Amino acid sequence: MKNTPEWWDHFWSTHHPTMLENETQEETWYDLVWKFGCEYWLELFKSKAPGIDILECGCGSARVSRYLAERGFQCVLLDYSEHALEAARNQFKSHSMEGHYVRGDIHHLPLKDRRFDIVFSGGVLEFLPDAGRAIREMVRVLRPGGILAANMVPRKFSIQVIADLERTLVHSVKNLLTGHFREACRRVQNLPSDYPVNNLALKDYVEFCKREGLRSIHARVTSPFPLLTLPGFARSAYARLMKRSFPAWRRFNESKSGWTNLWGITYSLYGIKEAKD
Ligand SMILES: C[S@@+](CC[C@H](N)C(=O)[O-])C[C@H]1O[C@@H](n2cnc3c(N)ncnc32)[C@H](O)[C@@H]1O
Repeated sequence: MKNTPEWWDHFWSTHHPTMLENETQEETWYDLVWKFGCEYWLELFKSKAPGIDILECGCGSARVSRYLAERGFQCVLLDYSEHALEAARNQFKSHSMEGHYVRGDIHHLPLKDRRFDIVFSGGVLEFLPDAGRAIREMVRVLRPGGILAANMVPRKFSIQVIADLERTLVHSVKNLLTGHFREACRRVQNLPSDYPVNNLALKDYVEFCKREGLRSIHARVTSPFPLLTLPGFARSAYARLMKRSFPAWRRFNESKSGWTNLWGITYSLYGIKEAKD
């Protein structure tokens, strides 16, 4: 079964996340998506959070937290997968950073009330059977005046759905040409992407946040650049285009127009806990 601690244990024991460490290396789609995201969260937390205590829920390999820790934030990393916490520990250790690691379920956080200035989750809420309950828990452990922030890759039409057709076509043709017929069929059968995510829309997350008393809720459909399967030269050109487009990417992420809502791949959300509660 997907989306259990065991499934994520297996995921984290077979995936070794990399993040660009060396500016001379060639940047990839993944590097730029992470870089853009990390810069955005850093700026947001610096300007809106009342302090530096952050909880990352469903931290996985904790790349965002590690980036924030290197810039002075105190991070608590929570995940229900032991292998995810191991990846988080390795991420922090390899950069000589200190973190605190908690094994726990986001639906029942084993943490005291009003403990954090920031509670963050990246790519987690969309996997949950009860995201409303998780948001209640995240708000509970937030200090008054603190910020809850999250992004998700939801089940929705976006430019990535079209890009997935391109990716499947390229991989299937490669597989057919090299005689891997079964693999070619498997990829086609897996369309549309079979990630085990829930059916919540952005407005559902906003409702959960309102119900828990968050104010100044900011919710957008974000991420204009899909993951594509491209040959080397085109991959480099695409990465250069993404990098040059950071300011336009920002504007896209702030837009509320109908076409950005259709095109955009992810949801991004934040809200502030009432200072008196
Ligand atoms: C897609 S990964 C995202 C990891 C990381 N935040 C990132 O952006 O790379 C989802 C993570 O959420 C964790 N997770 C899923 N459901 C959870 C739950 N109910 N409680 C705690 N962690 C959970 C998984 O173990 C996994 O590490």
